Amino acid sequence: MIRLRDFERIVFFTGAGLSAESGIPTYRGQGGIWHEYNYEEYACQRAFDRDPDKVWDFHDLRRQKIGACDPNEGHAIIAEVQREIAGTRIVTQNIDGLHQRAGSREVVELHGSIWRVRCTRTGEIVEDFEVPIASRRSPAGGWWRPDIVWFEDSLDHDTIAAAQDAIAGCDLLISIGTSGVVFPAAQLPRIALQSGATLVEINPEETVVSSWYQHHLRGPASQMLTDLWR
Ligand code: OAD
Repeated sequence: MIRLRDFERIVFFTGAGLSAESGIPTYRGQGGIWHEYNYEEYACQRAFDRDPDKVWDFHDLRRQKIGACDPNEGHAIIAEVQREIAGTRIVTQNIDGLHQRAGSREVVELHGSIWRVRCTRTGEIVEDFEVPIASRRSPAGGWWRPDIVWFEDSLDHDTIAAAQDAIAGCDLLISIGTSGVVFPAAQLPRIALQSGATLVEINPEETVVSSWYQHHLRGPASQMLTDLWR
């Protein structure tokens, strides 16, 4: 039986399944975003260069839907663990900002955030919570684009380094609600495996990376986290 209080340096490695109970659809599987929207039209730099307004319409809709959702019990427990166990770190693939809204701090956002925009001309990054975004054009004469890692983009070097650092030093890694198919994020938990940490996978379904984990909790994130913490 794993109990979070028995560990000192916990990493929560989170994916879309954590936010599913908030009402935000996952990407793959039934009802997944990439079944409804072809990423080549909505989520890559080529699509943005071709038709920025079409890509922004999609992202404004996502902002609207995400903005209408609240963090769930799973996010709340993670924030509580972070407050009580000082060495707790959060590495997320999610762009929805729900960890922060639940009270978590210093969240490593591997795939960026839907609540930040980046100027295509200067690279300036600013937070922007307006829905729809007030201006798609930046003052520098470029476009604001969502500060998200789209398909075919590279991950930010410092962000990857922060994730690697957190994972290399953990004694417990809990992966929650990720299919483990999007690289390089998917391979990060291997670092914990190599350094001898305990690895727990929370996911109602088996994944392609399940064999890395010593413990599998097959159920919804909020319930499984409650069992580990309460
Ligand atoms: P996926 O949609 O690929 O996988 C979601 C996982 O969550 C699946 O394995 C589900 O079985 C699991 N799941 C569903 N409901 C759950 C629940 N209540 N509790 C726990 N698990 C549950 O999402 P990710 O792995 O996060 O990239 O996808 C990785 C990346 O692919 C995303 O970050 C996104 C996407 O393209 C960007 O936005 C850049």
